[in-house]
Amino acid sequence: MKLFLDTASIDEIREINRWGVLGGVTTNPSLVAKEADDPARVWKEILSEVEGPISLETTELEIEPMYEQGVDLAQMAPNAVVKVPMTPNGLTVGKRLTDEGIKVNVTLVFSPAQAILAAEIGAYIVSPFLGRLDDVAADGMDALRKICGIYEVQGYETNVLAASLRHPMHVVDAALAGADIATMPYSVFTQLVKHPLTDVGLEKFLQDWKSLQKELRKGA
Ligand code: E4P
Repeated sequence: MKLFLDTASIDEIREINRWGVLGGVTTNPSLVAKEADDPARVWKEILSEVEGPISLETTELEIEPMYEQGVDLAQMAPNAVVKVPMTPNGLTVGKRLTDEGIKVNVTLVFSPAQAILAAEIGAYIVSPFLGRLDDVAADGMDALRKICGIYEVQGYETNVLAASLRHPMHVVDAALAGADIATMPYSVFTQLVKHPLTDVGLEKFLQDWKSLQKELRKGA
């Protein structure tokens, strides 16, 4: 399972990219708005920072404007992936872009039925939002498991991207469910690396090492 950052912050992206585990980035209009900067500048910086797929979201709702925006976004860089919403117009535009060889991410997916539609247009990525389902007392992980099961049985090639992840166990369970990609905020990414026993263990190793050095100096 590839690990993506769900952010438009170049500082967060640079920090996680330094770890050598960053497979790609997902952005959405809310995340780009947080940067309070020219969206094109923000997207270009991210596209050149990370080699993997970078999802850039359309904001037009009608077919022609959404299509034109999608083409413009795709032309920004070879690793650009165009996000379209799970709406009838989003599917129409997604299919057209896919047929033209442009990689499409169908976003705002909340059910296995919607995920079947995304696969049928040949989308590159489908994005089920787990956390937002949990927020309304539904079972986001159950939806993800069903989507992964359907894709397996049907032989769909669309990549399942577990989105709207809120904590490390979401990431672990998404991997067990068979998701191809998990996208998460910086806060969840940094929680993945942490374990109290790692900190305690490291401290003890360093103390013992220092004691050894002291002993060796005494004997010299
Ligand atoms: C995915 O592409 C979305 O940007 C994202 O995962 C939404 O997450 P949220 O529910 O935390 O806003």
